[in-house]
Formats: sequence, C-alpha cells, structure tokens
Amino acid sequence: MKSKNKGTRGSKDAIAVKQVGANLAAEVSGIDLRQPLSDAEFDAIEASLVEHELLVFHDQGISSEQLKAFGGRFGELTVHPFAPNDGKDHALIKFENKEENPPVLTDVWHSDETFRLEPPMATVLCAKEVPEVGGDTMFVSMTAAYDGLSDRLQSFISGLEAIHDFKPFKTLFSDSAEDRENLQFFERKYPPAVHPVVRVHPVSGRKVLFVNPQFTIAIKGMDERESGSLLDTLFHQALIPEYQFRHHWIADTIAFWDNRSTQHYAVHDYYPKRRIMERVTIKGDKPIGVETADPASVHRAKYVAAVGADPHGGHGPTRQHGRELEQAK
Ligand SMILES: [Fe+2]
Repeated sequence: MKSKNKGTRGSKDAIAVKQVGANLAAEVSGIDLRQPLSDAEFDAIEASLVEHELLVFHDQGISSEQLKAFGGRFGELTVHPFAPNDGKDHALIKFENKEENPPVLTDVWHSDETFRLEPPMATVLCAKEVPEVGGDTMFVSMTAAYDGLSDRLQSFISGLEAIHDFKPFKTLFSDSAEDRENLQFFERKYPPAVHPVVRVHPVSGRKVLFVNPQFTIAIKGMDERESGSLLDTLFHQALIPEYQFRHHWIADTIAFWDNRSTQHYAVHDYYPKRRIMERVTIKGDKPIGVETADPASVHRAKYVAAVGADPHGGHGPTRQHGRELEQAK
C-alpha cells in the first residue's frame, strides 16, 4: 500500500494520505480546506492527485467561495456550458436533485467534458446534503483499464484517434426556433473534438485509455461497424470491478479527481430523495497521444517521481445558455 505523511503545519496538522482503493482513491486528512493551502500542502495534494487519481477529504464544511478558492489554486476554473449554476457565478455548478428535479445524464460512465478540445484537468465535488442511502459515485482508473488490455490490443489502439461530441446534452434542447438557434450556437462553439485513444498523462507519463461511452462517438478512420465493435470492447474496460472504486458520500465530504485518468458514474438509485452538491472544474490541456508524446511534453514528471508518485456526484445538467450565448449575440 502506498501511503505517505507530509508535515506542513507542524506534526499536529500533518497531511496524511491513506490509499483506500487498489487501483485508485486515497483519503486525505490533517488539512482544513477552509484555509488557503500552503505551498507544501499544494505540492502534496497535487502529487497525490496524480498518484491516486481520486482524493477524498472528509469533514470539510466549506463555503462555495472556499471551494472555488481551493479549486482555483490548481488552475483556472472553467464554465460548463450545459450544467446548472447558481446564476451568479458560472464556474460554480450546483446540483439540487430532488423529486421535482431528478438527476439526468450522469448515470453513464464518462470523464467530464471530453467534448472540449482541452477537457478539464480535474473536478472538485462537495457534498452538501445527501440521502441516507444511495447516491454513491463510482470511479474507475483508466490507467489500470489500459494496463489490463492485452499487449496486442494496446499496440493496436496506440496511435488511433477518437471523436468526442456533446451529443447527450443535445437532448436538453427543444424543437423551438430559439432552442434550435441556441443548439447551433453550441455546435459551432464545440465542434466534435478529436483525442488520442491512448492518452499519455502529462504529469506521470502513464498511458490512459481515453474513450468514454458518454462522449466518444467513433474511432477516426474506421467504418461504423469496426468503430462500434472496438469502442464496445474499450468501454467495457471501465466496467471491470477491479479497476473501480465506489465512493459513499456523507455531507461535507469532498472528492477531487484527476479527470485525465479516470471516469465516473453517478449512481441514480436515490430519487426522489434530495442530493445537493457543488462542483468546480479545473481547466486542462489538449490530450497528448502516444505518437506525439516526447519526454519534454511530460512536464513535471521528474518532480512527481521525486515525491514518490508514479502515478459526484450527480450532474443534473439543465440548459444554461447564459452569459456566453449573450456574449455571442
Ligand atoms: Fe461528471
């Protein structure tokens, strides 16, 4: 078991990182996320995120502003074009699932927003109110999923590219003239993105199987039947329990996942009970494939090695045309 302790504010408040899943997930204790992170704390969390892919922080009764400050320490916060926010701050996604507002479109395996040319680096999700039973989030390590493929298949898919599209969110648009115009706006803004099927993690240098059933619609250069068969095989990797970790939420728990190397699935077994979550999303890089990766592109890999790393919740997307549509008009 990989675990380490890092002193940051003296022994009383030392960060402890305890691995809790075989292929991903660690619990982080000895830190108060209401406070700004010291440089040492930031370094420890960033390295642990790459190594363990999913970090869980318990007993963090933080405000929305503190959640944004925590996420913002790791990079620019991005705005999800289709997820609900609080109307004031578009970077803060608020899921308020209850009888009148059932969760939709998240009980499918996915990495967040891979329809973007630069999908998010990571996502931070905080539980505000959760059902007594149910409402877990499943996670899967796509580095473990890649490692689990045969050498032959690993070799075959290395260098292939896949097309990602925001297709599932198109169902949120009606057939009204206004909605058709809005959908066209988003189709222009987010044309299908082409990403490598095998992604090289920009920090760890590890290979990641980077296709997901929510947004990946085809393998580039293959006919529909070939593409469908291959994607079925690759999507199945995320279903293998050995590569997964099931996270049970309690209020004031935060999950912080590396969106470059994981997928997740919000288990929709609690409706019509209430489940209230807040999320921020951190901007990422354009994914690098095996063919194009070179040692220089794997920035900070040396640093990660030096610290010993080798490396939801529910969305309830509703149409949020909001500010960016207004800006475009
Ligand atoms: Fe998600």
